[in-house]
Amino acid sequence: MPFNKLLPGFKGLSRALMHKDHTTYQHSARVEKLAQALGEAVALEVDDLAALRMVACLHDIGKIGIPDTILNKPTKLDANDWKLMHTHSEKGEDIILSLELYHCDIIATAVRHHHEYFDGTGYPDKLNGDDIHYFARIISIVDSYDAMTFSRPYEKARTHTETMDVMHAEEGIKSDPYLFTKFARLIEHNSLKAD
Ligand SMILES: [Fe+2]
Repeated sequence: MPFNKLLPGFKGLSRALMHKDHTTYQHSARVEKLAQALGEAVALEVDDLAALRMVACLHDIGKIGIPDTILNKPTKLDANDWKLMHTHSEKGEDIILSLELYHCDIIATAVRHHHEYFDGTGYPDKLNGDDIHYFARIISIVDSYDAMTFSRPYEKARTHTETMDVMHAEEGIKSDPYLFTKFARLIEHNSLKAD
């Protein structure tokens, strides 16, 4: 089944996140838009773009399984909080696999790996480079941009310039350098570019 036929169902499932954690739902909607823009910039085919959007809208669906006391904690998270928070990518994979949809193991894998780092220091599997699914490498970049340019309970928003400085420093460490170069170019003309 083509992924664009499955996309509406995934967007419907993302509404579960809206009722649990509106901030993460809105973040996911912006990540979907930015992921689509980056996917188009690297000339993904139509069906791959639909698959990428499915990963984007459910990349944080596993946060349904994270306690509100951690999601909404007004102070910095401690080591135990982070340990629990880091389980959201595996929980997301589990939720998507449970749908038992044809070919959706690719989507589930990309969700599992959206916090892997290009140098192998991310989580949960410490994969590096091309071993991280292409979709996950795309989501990682747009996720970072959106997370930094919108305020979180424990951290205020950075400007576009501040965010890009951080992301440039993380090029090849956290992000895929080729994809980051494409992103740095497109964000200058994207409506989701921060002030
Ligand atoms: Fe995440």
